[in-house]
Amino acid sequence: MSKILIKNIKELVQVLSADVKLLKGTEMSNLSTITGAWLLLENDTIIDFGEMNNCPDDNEIEVIDATGKMVFPAWCDSHTHIVFAKSREEEFVDRINGLTYQEIAAKGGGILNSAKKLENASEEELYTGALKRVNEIQLTGTGAVEIKSGYGLTVEAELKMLRVIKRLKQTCDITVKANFLGAHAIPVKYKDNRRGYIDLIINEMLPRIKEEGLADFIDVFCETNYYTPEEASEIIDAGKKIGLIPKFHTNQFTSIGGIQLGVANKALSVDHLEVMTDEDINDIASSDVMPTLLPSCSFFLNIPYAPAKKLINRGLPVCLATDFNPGSTPSGNMNFVLSLACINMKLTPEEAINAATINAAYAMGIESTHGSITKGKKANIFLTKEIPSYAFIPYYFGHNQIESLILNGKIMK
Ligand code: NIG
Ligand code: FE
Repeated sequence: MSKILIKNIKELVQVLSADVKLLKGTEMSNLSTITGAWLLLENDTIIDFGEMNNCPDDNEIEVIDATGKMVFPAWCDSHTHIVFAKSREEEFVDRINGLTYQEIAAKGGGILNSAKKLENASEEELYTGALKRVNEIQLTGTGAVEIKSGYGLTVEAELKMLRVIKRLKQTCDITVKANFLGAHAIPVKYKDNRRGYIDLIINEMLPRIKEEGLADFIDVFCETNYYTPEEASEIIDAGKKIGLIPKFHTNQFTSIGGIQLGVANKALSVDHLEVMTDEDINDIASSDVMPTLLPSCSFFLNIPYAPAKKLINRGLPVCLATDFNPGSTPSGNMNFVLSLACINMKLTPEEAINAATINAAYAMGIESTHGSITKGKKANIFLTKEIPSYAFIPYYFGHNQIESLILNGKIMK
């Protein structure tokens, strides 16, 4: 049995009771903390915490003195594509020279470019590359990550990606959720036969995914030039039949009904939402679907930011994630996401921290074990460097204030 007592914590951040599943509307402006705190971990679980004036004896347990430092639940990153073969700097340069993301995609770049690069990569190469990125995101405080397929776009390549994700799940201390995104783009070979590719997803990919237990979620890029709401609906239905929970990429460039589809399908989350009509906001307001916003993608592509404040003012929750991928967001740094959310979406530090912890855990279906400092939850936490306030994390943008990360009760760095 291993116990770790962290004492003299300047501020223990995001202390919630076990019944809180998410925070919405005005609830998001409150961040629950204990100043001058201790925290006790036993094996992989948070056992207890309190104020320093009743700190337990520290005989025969490992003690960490956190004087001047804060403790947070590790970030949950509910939207990434970190399994990929190669980076795409050439498209970065194309955009600098004036092309848009859509123009680059139309000439064979974008998702199809990544699919081409992934085709010949071995499972081992993909695993090694993704593991390197998992280690990178851990350094910036991430303790749970959702990873999507979607750069395969053939039966074998999609399964290859999902097997890599499964292996990460089995070998890493970070919590991993797998999302099948076979409907990420229409592969070149099926350009004039969309039906053929959709049939491949439904009749060939999904049965194999079920057989090998390769995914938790199913996702579709419901967007102009990608998948129509009708196509998305059919694919999501088939995924639900094998027990996958729906999520959507939608409203990144246009509003074509993806949000309504998410609501109708009781999706766990709808993600991107850079373009939202009043009707979209009304429709999502009457649901339990988590709006998941990706400000690093807006930053990198120079596209509008999702209307986070409008959603919160309508009483909705919001979640923040990185979207780490080689095309639209080559960054898995949640701290930078928080900075962008505060600076460009006008979230307060409290709202941003709530969006990246408990609400992000909800968007991954792990809110009963992750996303807050709660007795019985997983010992997935980070210690900051010495910082003046929790708002210093989004304020001091581009730096890393995470000093150490503990996952499943194990000190990782
Ligand atoms: O979430 N929007 C669709 N998919 C990814 C980007 C994919 C890519 O360009 O590789 C995203 O931004
Ligand atoms: Fe994405």
